Amino acid sequence: MTSMKILQYPDERLHKLATPVREVTVEIQTLVQDMTETMYAAHGIGLAATQVDVHQCVIVIDISDSRDALHVFINPEIIAASGESTCEEGCLSVPGVFEKVRRAEYITVRALNIDGDSFVISAEGLLAVCIQHEMDHLLGKVFVEYLSRLKQLRLKSKLKKQQK
Ligand code: NI
Repeated sequence: MTSMKILQYPDERLHKLATPVREVTVEIQTLVQDMTETMYAAHGIGLAATQVDVHQCVIVIDISDSRDALHVFINPEIIAASGESTCEEGCLSVPGVFEKVRRAEYITVRALNIDGDSFVISAEGLLAVCIQHEMDHLLGKVFVEYLSRLKQLRLKSKLKKQQK
């Protein structure tokens, strides 16, 4: 397993659209392993392939404290969503920034697992938030884009200065 470099906002590559995985090959399984290692090494609870500059629809999530409850979503699709909840979010691509985002409270997601088999999962709470946050990454969207335009501009200039 290899730890990968995580793109930092406002890197333009975070805005690339991911393409669906055509087949869950050994390469994709290796990508999942490397992403998992990268997420754990960075103490994150979720990582989308976009964040490691691989533009395919792959997400890993582990919201457990014990770091032993990995969820892998390949080609995730939200097939049902309801309710509304607001949660403070953070992102490995935007370190040190935590902002409230409104999302669906309950979702049902269909995806492929690491063996390429289709599964359906219903999620609520932090898991639902995390899945929606990571799925946004696959669409090239970073959570701070839900903030007001002014807040985004301020954040961008602050982060650009920090990265210099
Ligand atoms: Ni993120």
